[in-house]
Amino acid sequence: MERTFLMVKPDGVQRNLIGEVVSRFERKGFTLVGSKMLAVSKGLAETHYGEHKEKPFFGELVSFITSGPVFAMVWEGENVIAEARKMMGKTNPQEAAPGTIRGDFGVQMSMNVIHGSDSPDSAKREIELFFNESELVSYEKTI
Ligand code: CMP
Repeated sequence: MERTFLMVKPDGVQRNLIGEVVSRFERKGFTLVGSKMLAVSKGLAETHYGEHKEKPFFGELVSFITSGPVFAMVWEGENVIAEARKMMGKTNPQEAAPGTIRGDFGVQMSMNVIHGSDSPDSAKREIELFFNESELVSYEKTI
């Protein structure tokens, strides 16, 4: 079964949106297989966002994601990587459709509430970066 890495960013945590975000993925039928609150270190932020190292907004990105605690999650389900991206909406909240997480709650480019892996390769990389195997569960729903 496919897995993805999702993270409620510091703006989402401080605006009490963790429950809202978790609820949307639960109601959609996806399975939460791991989660934790953490303060992202500068080193972890730079590795996580490594692909954006040359972008002009890299400094802003690292400083925002390290500015307060985040809520990191691993979700499991059929086609969950692409489905989660749809549910999140476009990166820029001002372009994200109403009904999506960023469309409903996002403020601006860096304060866009949530991060989600954009491909199977980045999902694998990001899950391994944030979680040990022992922090993830695997189970069948029986009720
Ligand atoms: P995220 O999905 O976490 O992945 C990279 C992040 O970079 C993205 O969300 C945005 O928050 C941020 N980002 C992308 N483009 C810009 C931009 N032009 N200016 C500032 N931040 C950006």
